[in-house]
Amino acid sequence: MMSRRPGNSSRRFGDGKSKSSPLLSIALIVVGALFIIGYFYKGSGGLVSRIDSVSRVEGAGDYLCSGEVQRAIPVLQKTYGDSMHKVLHVGPDTCYVVSRLQKEDETEAWGVEPYDVEETDSNCKTLIRRGSVRVSDIKFPLPYRPKSFSLVIVSDTLDYLSPKYLNKTLPDLVRVSTDGLVIFTGIPTNQKAKVADVSKFGRAAKMRSGSWWVKFFLQNNLEENEAANKKFEQASTKSSYVPQCQIFHLKSLH
Ligand SMILES: *[C@@H]1O[C@H](CO)[C@@H](O)[C@H](O)[C@H]1NC(C)=O
Repeated sequence: MMSRRPGNSSRRFGDGKSKSSPLLSIALIVVGALFIIGYFYKGSGGLVSRIDSVSRVEGAGDYLCSGEVQRAIPVLQKTYGDSMHKVLHVGPDTCYVVSRLQKEDETEAWGVEPYDVEETDSNCKTLIRRGSVRVSDIKFPLPYRPKSFSLVIVSDTLDYLSPKYLNKTLPDLVRVSTDGLVIFTGIPTNQKAKVADVSKFGRAAKMRSGSWWVKFFLQNNLEENEAANKKFEQASTKSSYVPQCQIFHLKSLH
């Protein structure tokens, strides 16, 4: 009796344990898996941001076209005028572009930063906290309603997307605009921008030729804005502005 009781109770205890242990082990496996996924996810993210911060210290040349957007703002003002009242910029270093745009009279500006900005300056942190800048993977639809912005400007980002994603992202950029989309994209002969890319974005930038883009726009029923093209060229000439990126002007949908 005496010996059976502890035996029983231990078996009962054991039974209880064996009932809960499959659940427990499943929970442990799930938690473990989450940890592993989290580790790799965070690991890669951490790497990206580390390399980012290093390259940012080295200079803005890595994101050639985001810098180009900042230089082109006066020319864009002359081209788009009132259509610059509500601008969305999509691209790396968007905090700089948004800050620059916000200095313009009668221009409200928002930004989407497609890459990790873990280590960023206080100005950028403030913009993110205020909601002026969002960090968002642009392989997914933009978190904005149709026609949320008068003008959408995208730089560099498209060079890192395969045609499969471009097919979705480019129409989505057009979707959130009312008066047009301006694309700043790399020039194929520019080798400088290609060096650090793979480690940074997981995919090398592919600089496409002008004719490649024009064909791509046609395939996707996206129409170039000839009037804006012309105005932009004229304003560039007047300001002696020579772009170091290819610039395309697309019409919004009506
Ligand atoms: C992109 O879209 C175009 C037009 O709809 C189509 O012809 C092309 O095959 C698509 N490309 C990819 C990679 O999905």
